[in-house]
Amino acid sequence: MGNREWGPYLLISLPHSPFPTPHSLRTTMLTEEERQEIAAELHQYAQKRAVCIDALKIVQRRRGWVSDENVRDLAEFLEMTPDELDSVATFYNLIFRKPVGRRVILICDSVSCWIMGYDRIREHLTARLGIELGETSSDGEFTMLPIACLGACDHAPALMIDEALYQDLEPQGIDRILER
Ligand code: FES
Repeated sequence: MGNREWGPYLLISLPHSPFPTPHSLRTTMLTEEERQEIAAELHQYAQKRAVCIDALKIVQRRRGWVSDENVRDLAEFLEMTPDELDSVATFYNLIFRKPVGRRVILICDSVSCWIMGYDRIREHLTARLGIELGETSSDGEFTMLPIACLGACDHAPALMIDEALYQDLEPQGIDRILER
């Protein structure tokens, strides 16, 4: 089951984190609770496989990322092949197929942000956290990933941490954001 390397949707193909965060240890089979939560979504869809994105999100919410074992289990549960499910997982850039830190910084890597100071922001994050794109901080707290346009081009540069969008960024403001 191959993971895509850097590319337009690379966010799900992270280099393996050397830091055994609690999330990174959770690679085991689906739990009964996970199966029940996924099964509860099935009534919304005509086909079992159509719930696959919800199912991936459920596993990621509980474990932090989606391991190969999880993909195999989920695929069996959803009557898909592991490769079919992996194709879905690696297409969506918010499904993580490698361990990530407790918080994920998604830094917009598209044209408006390039023009408005992407480099400054990325360099500040690298200096502050000691990580490049695709890496996790030594304390396992942050992973920094590039993402395509966050839809905030008129307030570039922008980034997202967890589900919060931060825009009109300046390096000085980054430290406050990281402390939240
Ligand atoms: S280019 Fe960065 S938000 Fe659109």
